Amino acid sequence: MSRNLASRCVIVVGAQWGDEGKGKVVDLLASHFDWIARYQGGHNAGHTVITGGRKHILQLIPCGILSGSARAVIGNGVVIDPAALVQEMDALEAANVQLEGRLFVSNRAQVILPYHRMLELAAENAPGRIKIGTTSRGIGPSYEDKMGRRGLRIADLFDADLLRTHIENALREKNAIAGALYQAQPLDAGSIYERYVDYSRRIRSYVTDTAALLDQAWRAGDSILLEGAQGTLLDIDHGTYPFVTSSSTTAGGGCTGTGLGPTRVSGVVGVSKAYATRVGGGPFPTELEGEIAEHLRERGNEFGSVTGRPRRVGWIDLPLLRYAVRLNGMESLIITKLDVLDQLAEIPVCVGYRRGQSAVEEIPATVAEMEKLEPVYESLPGWQTSTAGVTQWAELPRAARAYLDFLASRLELEIGLISTGPERNEAAWLPHTKLQAWLGVTAPAKASVERVKAKG
Ligand code: GDP
Ligand code: IMO
Ligand code: MG
Repeated sequence: MSRNLASRCVIVVGAQWGDEGKGKVVDLLASHFDWIARYQGGHNAGHTVITGGRKHILQLIPCGILSGSARAVIGNGVVIDPAALVQEMDALEAANVQLEGRLFVSNRAQVILPYHRMLELAAENAPGRIKIGTTSRGIGPSYEDKMGRRGLRIADLFDADLLRTHIENALREKNAIAGALYQAQPLDAGSIYERYVDYSRRIRSYVTDTAALLDQAWRAGDSILLEGAQGTLLDIDHGTYPFVTSSSTTAGGGCTGTGLGPTRVSGVVGVSKAYATRVGGGPFPTELEGEIAEHLRERGNEFGSVTGRPRRVGWIDLPLLRYAVRLNGMESLIITKLDVLDQLAEIPVCVGYRRGQSAVEEIPATVAEMEKLEPVYESLPGWQTSTAGVTQWAELPRAARAYLDFLASRLELEIGLISTGPERNEAAWLPHTKLQAWLGVTAPAKASVERVKAKG
């Protein structure tokens, strides 16, 4: 069968440490796509969508489910806690979101079981262990079982004998480990089995071979958006290891995590805040403390949407964003939360790193080396005018445009969209961008780096 030329597949990735506003952005882009698919992570993600004053926090189901007719896929690369999935399905149905015929769950996705959470909590608090500051959702231990080839997949939930045996065997091992190493109370196989049978009944009609489904859709000319969770610097290979999550958050994960081959991908767009945040432990070269940190945290409402933890905040970091551009093959960037910077008189941007007298060109591989980096800042004038809710590039204050222009030219990358508030419509598009071409809105024109420069 030949390819229908209308087919498009765009990957949306977090360019920082997560919480960049992917939920808001995917919800906004979703009306341009037939399918929205998650490809990695689990309910460690918290993607906030606010439409018409109503707030939804999606953890497993792609944000596209809230937008018109788009269909939502939970891909094979995701780890699914059926309790969390059922809870999210119930909440969406209670909000009158139709799921039947619109939600598809991969039969090959891994299942999170209660012992994953037990082991993670015990290990995180054990003396002598590096405390990652995880979301305690069992994500890491579940991916460990996947890679150790002892995981349970969604399709296995429907084979009662296999399910019971799997839980009994796994618990024999996990209870012994958790008891011996962490003095944890043992979990009971029978009650877990009963609960998981109930969950399997609730989700059964949504489960299918989603890789085959997406391939069929792509061949039929449909457009597909792959919704990343977490962010580039939390990637298991390329992030600030070991302070990372346990999946491939970068664009490559979009292929393995859905079964769509790399030749199907039309483009990769990154999402970054106009500043930076991080939740949990690990290096953060531009981290701020004190009054400005408090100001940004309050204005940006920087408290974890899943755990409620205060997010660490800092200035935007161009060396790390360049790293994200390279790793994802990113060709367009969306900047969110510009409005959070509105009151600042000047805005430092990290343009490079030094160590003593020498410039550091590469991002170090170790935490120890990362922590020695001294950011080099260039300060740009603030605009001290409200940008909240601005929907036109031309209506942004000159200094705000200069700030965005500076980012685009230093990153040698177009900026395709600027978000100026949490609501769906609070955003300004830049015309003639690659992003718009991938959305099927306009033909690609000159690289918008040049365009932004000319306008700035
Ligand atoms: P995600 O995990 O990348 O989807 O991001 P989160 O939803 O965890 O965190 C982003 C937060 O910023 C949410 O509370 C959003 O409602 C909010 N948000 C997104 N874009 C903007 C924006 O442009 N301005 C402001 N003020 N808030 C935004
Ligand atoms: P979204 O999709 C921000 C962080 C945790 C911790 C590390 C490992 O909303 O951007 P895990 O539970 O995944 O094993 O924790 O990763 N983390 C996130 N930080 N946004 C997220 O998701 C995150 N998901 C995990 O805080 O530091
Ligand atoms: Mg989040």
